[in-house]
Amino acid sequence: MVETLTEKKHGKEAAFGEMYVWREGMDWNPVERVILERRSVRKYRDEQVPEKLVRRILEAGRFAPSAGNAQPWRFVVVRDRDMLDEMEKYVRWRCQILKFMLDWESSPLGRLSWVLSQIYIRLMPNKLHPIPFGAIRLIADGKLKLFHGAPTVIFILEDVRGVSKPQVDIGICGQNMVLAAHSLGLGTCWVGFVELLKFGSKWKKKLGATWPYRFIEAIALGYPVGEPDGMVARELHEIDWWEGGRKRSVF
Ligand SMILES: Cc1cc2nc3c(=O)[nH]c(=O)nc-3n(C[C@H](O)[C@H](O)[C@H](O)COP(=O)(O)O)c2cc1C
Repeated sequence: MVETLTEKKHGKEAAFGEMYVWREGMDWNPVERVILERRSVRKYRDEQVPEKLVRRILEAGRFAPSAGNAQPWRFVVVRDRDMLDEMEKYVRWRCQILKFMLDWESSPLGRLSWVLSQIYIRLMPNKLHPIPFGAIRLIADGKLKLFHGAPTVIFILEDVRGVSKPQVDIGICGQNMVLAAHSLGLGTCWVGFVELLKFGSKWKKKLGATWPYRFIEAIALGYPVGEPDGMVARELHEIDWWEGGRKRSVF
């Protein structure tokens, strides 16, 4: 039998099958499977997630690493359907304003809209990348839902006093929760558009997104409809690999 780290530690058989060991040709272990098979879920069953399960997922977030162990986040859980619908309505309205100002193909502002969009693109190139911009149009037109009908939404507020790059910490913290949720049979979807709630003082106050906290990301959570999981295509980026004084390229 192969001696695993778990056996070494506890002096008994590994509790998690193929965990903590690597053998040539072995199958993906449970952690790798969760990482590789997780997909964003945009359709949820009309069934609330038990509170205990949500707390377990929050625990995975709480244990995320962060620069200087600053833990620059605060979690806000919203399971109130009316509140979620109201936030969704607010974000849709903000997207309609953005579309009116910046979508020069449809905006009644015509040429002015084109000029505005060029200014915005230069000021905020990541935010007006074609993908989020396409999503702004879809949300404005009611074709893309903000929370996808999820019964629970976990907001990860950023504590701007975090060390170094708090947004990196937020990403790691959220991914811990997303992977834990997947491993427990739940579906999730990151919701970056909650950032638009920062324009609503009502939402900032209600959810505690006032200094030193601010809206940054949220995670929609619920039981998925169907079987959305499976490996998603990703680009194969070339990797520079330095070893023995030389560089080679690997994929
Ligand atoms: C930080 C972040 C923000 C995201 N925001 C949204 C969003 O607002 N709405 C949405 O439907 N998907 C959102 N996504 C999901 C991505 O579209 C999705 O992860 C990507 O297309 C890859 O697909 P997969 O998650 O199924 O592997 C977001 C993902 C991340 C990591």
